[in-house]
This record gives sequence, structure tokens and C-alpha cells, in this order.
Amino acid sequence: MAHLSENNRPLKLKQLLIHNNDELSEAAQNFNDVCVVILPSHSEEDAHSNIGRLIANIANRLGSEATLITLGEITDLVQIQAVIPSTVRYQHWIAIKRTFPHQTDNRSLPNYHFGALIHTRYKKSLRHVKTRIEYTYCPNCDKTTKDYGGKKHTYHQYGTLMSDVWRDIACELDGDLTPVITRFQDLFGLEPYKELLALDCRLMDYQPLPFDDNRTPDWIQNFNIIRESAPQYSLFSGNNEQKTPEVRLALDLTDQIINGDCLEQLQEIPDNSIDFIFTDPPYNLGKKYSGYTDDLEVKEYFNWCDKWIAELARVLKPGRTLALLNIPIWSIRHFLFMDTILQFQNWIAWDALSFPVRLIMPAHYTILVFSKGESRNLPGLVGESGQTSVPGAPLAFDSLNPLAEGYCLRSSCVRHRQMMQRDDRGPLTDLWWDIHRLKHNSRRVDHPTQLPPHLMYRLISIFTRPKEIVLDCFNGAGTTTLAAHQLGRHYVGIESSSKYCKIAKGRHDEIIRGIDPFRKVERKLTAKNSPVPRLRKQKYEVPKKTLQLEVRRIAQELNRLPTRAEVAQRGKYPIKYYDNYFVSWGEVCAAARTTGMTEIRNYSGNNNSEDKGSGLGVKQLSFSLDERNYPAQEG
Ligand SMILES: C[S@@+](CC[C@H](N)C(=O)[O-])C[C@H]1O[C@@H](n2cnc3c(N)ncnc32)[C@H](O)[C@@H]1O
Repeated sequence: MAHLSENNRPLKLKQLLIHNNDELSEAAQNFNDVCVVILPSHSEEDAHSNIGRLIANIANRLGSEATLITLGEITDLVQIQAVIPSTVRYQHWIAIKRTFPHQTDNRSLPNYHFGALIHTRYKKSLRHVKTRIEYTYCPNCDKTTKDYGGKKHTYHQYGTLMSDVWRDIACELDGDLTPVITRFQDLFGLEPYKELLALDCRLMDYQPLPFDDNRTPDWIQNFNIIRESAPQYSLFSGNNEQKTPEVRLALDLTDQIINGDCLEQLQEIPDNSIDFIFTDPPYNLGKKYSGYTDDLEVKEYFNWCDKWIAELARVLKPGRTLALLNIPIWSIRHFLFMDTILQFQNWIAWDALSFPVRLIMPAHYTILVFSKGESRNLPGLVGESGQTSVPGAPLAFDSLNPLAEGYCLRSSCVRHRQMMQRDDRGPLTDLWWDIHRLKHNSRRVDHPTQLPPHLMYRLISIFTRPKEIVLDCFNGAGTTTLAAHQLGRHYVGIESSSKYCKIAKGRHDEIIRGIDPFRKVERKLTAKNSPVPRLRKQKYEVPKKTLQLEVRRIAQELNRLPTRAEVAQRGKYPIKYYDNYFVSWGEVCAAARTTGMTEIRNYSGNNNSEDKGSGLGVKQLSFSLDERNYPAQEG
């Protein structure tokens, strides 16, 4: 599938086959454009030792304006970020789909993505060209895969802005990477860059560099303190289930929501007593929780995380799994610690389907999956999960059989597919895109960061058998324990806020009374996930869309985006309508910055023929300068 970059001039490509460390260092010396290092593909066991140091050395040699992109296996990229010097800024982790899932055994999910780690020598946010990804269409109904509802006027006819999960192209690290390289040539085709230097290290005779702990960045280094005192749970091996006696959890801890600090409460839980742990800690991003401040100093945050991770590893039964959700950059740090006491199973990239609102939109979360010693065969891969879903789940959702790429979620189309017995299922891998974040308030309770229950149905179905015990030590409004309860598993939830515990307990009572705790309900919520202020519903007879289209009309007259004063002067509607309906002038101008789109596939060529190869068309080009003055909206 294609992408379209705005006003770009693709970078000239220079490719070098690198044979040894010296050649690599020499090629990077003072290079000041875009440098792509391609690392070899490998299995877990064949990973190169200390490959991070090699990339860190290159990063230090590049010029002060350079962008460094490393294409590699997840485990290599983690090692790189662990030692990358502070002279380089982390910008993005991009998950790139492979051409086919790599299955090893039933102890982990097939691997379906590798990564691109993007760093810059400059400190500002990433400079790149606005790039759109062509819409995909449902093979059954021929409408766009995503349902854009009443917002079509704010989208562009070509496609959506790019996110940090690339599923529209598929490559293998040891195969042809042209689609990825071409995309980077376009994405970075802006001043001052001229050249993309691709350093192909896939056949290189790699000489490991010495480890040098003194050069490890601060926020990474401090985990050594814990590492030295923590038991090495990864030393369990063989059939752990038979070797270690089952420890029964006391009845007063089973099926409980415990109100308290996780570090204190976990001490009450015996070693080797829990079958599956999922947790979704505060991300340290300043979210507004009841009774918890989510903005620790980074080092302090990880110091705290290491402590509860070590506790979770202790209470986990051998052979069982701990799954930890966080944003990719924090997951790198969690990985480094977990890898010292547990055994790596998967790095699940959950593409949570956000609306792209900026240039490259961070849209995915990482679910880090580690086992205590060697994992047992995963119940979900060997048919031992029992109940995996509930009657209230959406028609298209199946915990262990994800939707295949491209199929839409429109209920009419899903019903038609089911009636026609159309096979719309794809493989279960470590790349998930068919589970949305909770968007609608009617599905949310009063908690700022609830997860969708379907994520939990899938995780619990993969990693547990019926009646096993699931633990979440940051249980929030109860998504994990509720899903476990619904699927016939035992549960323990720990949560520091009494308010959220009360909400979770009330919802467990609903399950007992036969009510779906995830049903749609009209609620007045105070907790907000987004820092963007929301405006109260207005009672004007004119809908928001009409106002946005009116702004587009004025923009066409002026041949640029209008100011508020110009809309007040030239528009048909009072300016107070705009002030009261929209949170920013950027939102007012959303439809004027885009072309509008249709959800139906146009078979007479494509939906965007006039645009191809010419930037974004005449109308778009004329707006591109003014656009920088406004916060981007979407599409
Ligand atoms: C990201 S939220 C979890 C949301 C949950 N997954 C859900 O779907 O509702 C993190 C939760 O951890 C809680 N928390 C923060 N510090 C805690 C601590 N020390 N012990 C237990 N819970 C804590 C916060 O109150 C918050 O509800």
C-alpha cells in the first residue's frame, strides 16, 4: 500500500554493505543527514551480545543535525536504547509488520513485527514531512476499514496521517526492505537533509564491544541495585509445573478487591501462588488519578516499578506469565529489569487505533510478556482456555481468533459476513489491531485510564485455564478482575484508591446479579483521560459540522486558513457558536485543512487520483504554510 508525503523531495539513497565495526564507524563519522542502520535478523538465542554499544558509538559520531534510524529485532532495539548516550534524543519506536508470523513453539505468540528505533542528534521533536497512509477497504463491504462516522469532512481524501505501527507495508529484516527505506526517504525529504545513508550490517562480521557500566544512562543504571538482590526466577527450567508444589491462595485473598498500596499488599500473597498477572501501572505521564500523583522523577518511577515487578515475579507460579502494559519507551526499561529475573516471551504491540492527530502519531502500547522460568504451553494456543468471551462482547470480536487485516467493524457488515460464513479471521500473533481503546463515555466509569475489556478477554484466554488465579496490582476500575470473573477465573485486584475499589466492587456485584459491567450507560463522568478541555453540549440549531464546512468555504475564498476575526466578519453564523463548540481554532479549521473523504471505494482508479505524485493537490498546498500556526486536528 502507498503513502503520500506532503511537499517532499525524496532523499537520495546511498547504500553501503558493512563488513566490520571499523567500516561502520567510518561511514557514520560526521554524517549529518539521515542514517539507517540495518541489523541482522536473528532468533532469540542468536542475539548479538552488546549490539547496543555499537549503535551508541555510531550515534556519537554523527553530526549534530543527523537522524539515526535502527532497523532491528525487538531484543536488539531494547539493548540499543539501554546504552544510547544522552547526546541523542529518543523519538519513536515504530512497529513494522513482517510478511508472515514467525512461530517457534506454543510457549509464546508468533512474532509478527520488528522495529525501527528513531533517534536524533538534535533535541527538538522529530522534523519530518507530513505523510498520509492510503485508506484500506473492507474486502466484504468495500467501505473504509475504519468507520469515520460523522467526521468524514475532517479527513483527507487520500488517507490518514501516519501512526507508529506500520501495517500497510510488510517486510522481513533479512529480506527486501525497499518499502521501509522508500518511506524514510520520503518522510525525511526536507531541509537540511539531502541523503539517506543505508548501512546494511546484515552480513557483518560483528565484534562485540566491551560492556561499560559507567556509560549506562542514569535512568537505566539504577536497576542494578535491585537486580543484585532479586532472586533469579529465570533459573527455573524444565517442567516447572511438576517441580514446584502448587501454593493455594488463602480464601480471604481469593476473588477479592484489596484497597491498599500494592507494595504492602503484595507481601500478603505467598510465593508461587498466582497463575497470571496482568498489570497496567500509572505511566508517569501526569494523569489525574484519585489520590495518586502520576509524575515522579523518572529514576524514582523506575526504582518503584522494579520493586513491585520483583514482588510480582515472586508471587507468580513457575511456568506462568506476567504481562505488563506501558508505552514503548518505558517498556524498554521494564524489559531490561524483567529480563534479569524472568524469561522473555513476547513484546506485544497493541495498536490501539487512535485518531492520528500529529505527524507520526504514537498509537501503540507495549504489553511485555515474561514467564517465570520456562513457560508452560500457553493455554490459548493449545485449546485449554475454556470460556474466552462473554455474551455482551461485540459480534466481530473473538479472543483467540483476531479479525483479519482490513475487515471493518460495522455491525451490518459483520452480520453479513457471518451469514455468508465468510472467513474474516487472521492469525493470533504479537501484533494486535482489532481492539479499540475505550472512546465513548457511555462505556466508561469514573476512572481516567480504563482499558477495554476485550484486551483482557484476549490476554486471560491466552494465558490461563478456567479457575486459575489472575492478579492485577493496579486494578483501577477493575477491568482485569471483572474480565477474569466473567471468564470463570479467580481474581485478586489491588488498588490504592478507595474510590476506584468501590467502583470495581460494585461492578463485580453486577456480574453476580447477571448484569454486564461493561454495558453502555449514560453517565456523568468527572475523570478525564485527555488533558484537552471538553465543552458542554450546546443547544444551537447549527451542528458543529456545518460550522466547519462554513470555515472551509471562507478558506477557499481567501485561499488560506481564516482567522477568527475573518470568520466573524465573513461567516453566516455568530462567532460565539465557534467559541462555544470548539476547544481551539485548530479544531474550527479542521475541515478547511483537509479535503473531506468518502468511505466508499472508488473503482475508477482511486479516491485520490488528482493528488498522486503532486504533494497534496493545489488546495492543500496553498494551506500548508498557514497550517503551521494552528494545532493539528486530525486526518
Ligand atoms: C493505569 S491505571 C489502571 C487502570 C485499569 N487497568 C483499568 O482498566 O481500570 C493505574 C491505577 O493504579 C493505581 N495506583 C497508583 N499507585 C498505586 C499503588 N501504589 N498501589 C496500588 N494501586 C496504585 C491508580 O489509582 C490507578 O487506578
